[in-house]
Amino acid sequence: MPVEEITASAAGNWLLGDRTVHRMGFGSMRLTADPDRARAIRVLRRAVDLGVNHIDTAAFYVSPGGPLGVGTGSPRYATELIREALAPYPDDLVITTKVGPSFDEATQHRELTQAELRREVEENLRRLGRDHLDVVNLRIVRRPGKDSVAERFAALAELRDAGLIRHLGLSNVRVDHLDEARDIAPVVCVQNAYALDVNRWADELLRVCGERGIAFVPFFAIAGPGRESGAGGEHDDAVRAVAHAHGATAHQIRLAWTLHQGPHVLAIPGTGNPEHLAQNVAAGAIRLTPEDLARLG
Ligand SMILES: NC(=O)c1ccc[n+]([C@@H]2O[C@H](COP(=O)([O-])OP(=O)(O)OC[C@H]3O[C@@H](n4cnc5c(N)ncnc54)[C@H](OP(=O)(O)O)[C@@H]3O)[C@@H](O)[C@H]2O)c1
Repeated sequence: MPVEEITASAAGNWLLGDRTVHRMGFGSMRLTADPDRARAIRVLRRAVDLGVNHIDTAAFYVSPGGPLGVGTGSPRYATELIREALAPYPDDLVITTKVGPSFDEATQHRELTQAELRREVEENLRRLGRDHLDVVNLRIVRRPGKDSVAERFAALAELRDAGLIRHLGLSNVRVDHLDEARDIAPVVCVQNAYALDVNRWADELLRVCGERGIAFVPFFAIAGPGRESGAGGEHDDAVRAVAHAHGATAHQIRLAWTLHQGPHVLAIPGTGNPEHLAQNVAAGAIRLTPEDLARLG
């Protein structure tokens, strides 16, 4: 089947909170880097046309000033691009957002206080044009011995009780953070940097999430060690060989590998390129063999 005819449903489904999403979603961080607003909007609309019904965003996905460290001119917020492209929103669309770190130049990577978290949630509601947020991840900065999630997760749980948020998740965490948060409120997803060559310590976290019915949502699945600077063109021999065998690109195989780590793994590849978007959605149809998986490691 031609790439552009494969839809997000090919990756299968997962119940995220109380809503069923296709396991192939879309990450919106990269869109803010593109000064061509119209192209970013086209990519978002095309994602939904291709069946994507899980979009990841964050209060702090903005250029200039956000995690990508690029851009000039007036701020472009991913949340505002999503609203412009997709409101009124399709009924089945789940938008997952995140709050937590500050990207102020003066206070780089400071954790927001409980009151600031509330303001970020309210700002997200306003920028997205919604009266509630489907899923909010608390994104933390890991600092051994000093990174308890309890107080701030409890602050988000209060907003959940008040009806501003439907479901809560965590980002950039360890298993002990998950345990801490689950004593306060249910956790529906964990979003961490993870790929076949990145943070394999999180194999255990991924497994624990599966046992507890929590979605594991890796980011940097394609970018890998390139992280915010993006995907490189170089891939190891195993990835290239498996890609060749499937008539796929190496980037697609990296993405497919994550989906093969468990039925609870959701993909949120990020791109500002419509062709890459279609390839990524099509990667949800790739079925890796046990031999492929053994080779990829
Ligand atoms: N929780 C957190 O702390 C956190 C941190 C970072 C990101 N995230 C979320 O995770 C999402 C994914 O992360 P990401 O976008 O940084 O990384 P990614 O999805 O692993 O990779 C994106 C990079 O790969 C390129 N790419 C994408 N599809 C491709 C394809 N088919 N062929 C070739 N190159 C391709 C993109 O460039 P092009 O634009 O040229 O395609 C970009 O350089 C983000 O959008 C964001 O929503 C969460």
